Amino acid sequence: MADTLIFGLFPNVDPTARVVASLQAMGIPDDHVTIMSAVPYSSRLFGRRHPRTRFLPFLALGALGGLAVALFIAAGTPALYPIKVGAQPVIAPFPPTAIMVFEFVSLGVMIMAFLGFLLQSRFPRLSPAIYDERITDGYIGLSVRASDRLADEIIDLYNANGAIDVRRESVALAEPHRYRHLMFWGVLSVVGLGAVLAPLLLTYDIIRIPWINVMYHSPAVGPQEGPRLAAPEAAVPFSGPRLVAGSPATLPLEATENSLQRGGVLYGVYCAICHGYPDGSPGSLRDYFPEVPPINSQRVQSLSHEDIFVTVTNGLNRMPSLAEQLTIGETWDVANYVLSLGEGAAPAGQ
Ligand code: HEC
Repeated sequence: MADTLIFGLFPNVDPTARVVASLQAMGIPDDHVTIMSAVPYSSRLFGRRHPRTRFLPFLALGALGGLAVALFIAAGTPALYPIKVGAQPVIAPFPPTAIMVFEFVSLGVMIMAFLGFLLQSRFPRLSPAIYDERITDGYIGLSVRASDRLADEIIDLYNANGAIDVRRESVALAEPHRYRHLMFWGVLSVVGLGAVLAPLLLTYDIIRIPWINVMYHSPAVGPQEGPRLAAPEAAVPFSGPRLVAGSPATLPLEATENSLQRGGVLYGVYCAICHGYPDGSPGSLRDYFPEVPPINSQRVQSLSHEDIFVTVTNGLNRMPSLAEQLTIGETWDVANYVLSLGEGAAPAGQ
């Protein structure tokens, strides 16, 4: 027996509830009766059971997912990429972890509530459905799917309860939408996402957002360009002119044990190659500088500390200046050392 769809429009809740009660008495199952209203009336107002929704599992799933993400970020990443400070074990600090857990659990619940709502309300319908514009104005629509046999009885019931409009409609309008429309919305979402992401990927090089922390963008000051600070008044300069009017600008250093030791080492590095070693062996460049005076010769030993300082600073004929190699203090150290050797036998070969 063919089914038919009977639609009625009622001005308010009371007559609608009476009709619903009568329909239930006639043995028509609840899921064949659809109530449409602009106001979210509770189902109980019409004497119907509260519709069961499977919302809680969605929320629980979201909460669990959020918890997992939060724990991974807060406790998992420090374990994956440990930063060891003072050989301490990796720690996941509690207060930030608690905040992360709260935030991510909330986020998971929100996302899943949104998705769950979309899934349970089955997305917008594509095919035409039964409706009347007056429902938007506050009227209540009632559609019943019933066998043709009961149609006249139901129409009478509607009219008896003050329906302002009653009509028979095609059953197709009440067909529940099938998975085909889920497919439609799924494909549409994927295509939409692709349409947004693909251009972004293609213009990756063009839409560049400069990151202000990149050193390339921050001002750079070269070694010679920086602002100079004047030395504090009481500061002691430790570099300055070596000579003033041809004479040492500084007083000789005291020939302490340390000074002589330093001078000996420096002499071995900078002077012995030409002037020969204190033990008498000649320097390896002796043959290239036949005019070099042995360091313990009378000519050298009769010089003053100042003379040696000036010779080392300026050089002398073919002796090069060693001012670049020796600081002022080091030059005095070498002078102390040279004169501490005293006059002696000329080194071998002299
Ligand atoms: C490249 C070889 C060379 C080196 C290195 C060298 N000298 Fe000489 N030095 C000479 C020559 C050559 C002379 C002789 C110059 C002349 O009389 O024409 C000389 C002369 C001297 C004199 C005598 C100056 C005078 O007035 O008679 C002294 C003192 C002296 N050198 C000290 C030093 C000291 C100290 C060092 C190391 C810090 C040193 N030299 C490193 C080649 C060198």
